[in-house]
Amino acid sequence: AKDGYDYFMLKEIAEQPKAVADTLLGRIGADGELSLDQMRLSDEELREIDKVVVVACGTAYHAGLVAKYAIEHWTRVPCEVELASEFRYRDPVVGRQTLVIAISQSGETMDTLMALRYAREQGARVLAVCNTNGATIPRESDAVLYTHAGPEVAVASTKAFLTQLIACYLVGLYLGQVRGTKWGDEIGSVVRDLSDLPSKVDQVLETMEPVRSLARELAGATSVLFLGRHVGFPVALEGALKLKELAYMHAEGFAAGELKHGPIALIESGMPVIVVVPSPRGRSVLHDKIVSNIQEIRARGARTIVIAEEGDEAVAPYADHLVRVPECPTLLQPVVATVPLQVFACEMASARGFDVDQPRNLAKSVTVE
Ligand code: F6R
Repeated sequence: AKDGYDYFMLKEIAEQPKAVADTLLGRIGADGELSLDQMRLSDEELREIDKVVVVACGTAYHAGLVAKYAIEHWTRVPCEVELASEFRYRDPVVGRQTLVIAISQSGETMDTLMALRYAREQGARVLAVCNTNGATIPRESDAVLYTHAGPEVAVASTKAFLTQLIACYLVGLYLGQVRGTKWGDEIGSVVRDLSDLPSKVDQVLETMEPVRSLARELAGATSVLFLGRHVGFPVALEGALKLKELAYMHAEGFAAGELKHGPIALIESGMPVIVVVPSPRGRSVLHDKIVSNIQEIRARGARTIVIAEEGDEAVAPYADHLVRVPECPTLLQPVVATVPLQVFACEMASARGFDVDQPRNLAKSVTVE
């Protein structure tokens, strides 16, 4: 069943180009127009939406954090992202004009299900982004976007995450299309860029050997920090979560801009810090800021592991280890930048002698609150 891979996780990481292609399959028309098979919410209803709220747990929550950047940028509709376990206990403001997006691989996560039930009681429209056909969460939602990643066996989510990102982009672009906001050149070109992602993920997978040896080399570390900005911030959180759950190692993700507000005190000599660098094209201000963050932490002894776009030369002098990912538009970068972090965590866990597919204390689907 593992098709020659040592772990289901490795197999599922390798399946990501196909999984991403399958999420896109049949949803982009020849004219670049999107059609979502089980959208079920009318254009009229979607035009009435004045707020989007994403609810999810764990890795799915990180996909939601990326969704916020994309949805707000493309649609100008305000978008909040909340941990499902917090949502219904704080008297949130939701009503008929709220679109609640519940993201769940299994479709059975109790916290997410309870959040969506609560939202529906308040009159909200609920769209499920789910990987499991006919699961409870999609059954109880007004509309569904299946990720079609195929079964995910390893407890740690990999291909489900990448496809959740794709599904969220599709929702954001679809909302933009229906509502007419900012629809035009930019959105049209993003739709084309989505189709290039499977081969870009493939390219990343082909260059993972140095990441594996680095993970083995660092297997004795006690703590790894992850830094990112903009959509690189949720990627940093996801990288840290993977390392915690698989390698049982202290790992934390930070927004790089927060470094000087506290976390920089953690840096000590030899500490591995993984930095997700935004594209130097586009939002280049952020790129330059993160390059100076890398200089700062390196000056304090950090061992810098830098994930940067092909052709980004400015960052190279400050990287102890440089991991290249293909160029893509800023908002889509998480799809390629997450992959090395998955490989890193998987290899680290294996080097430390842990069961990669069945980490201790965790279950694939959390059906209790
Ligand atoms: C992390 C992981 C978990 C799940 C979370 C939500 O690798 O797998 O954090 O993402 O428990 O699960 P779903 O998506 O099934 O609702």
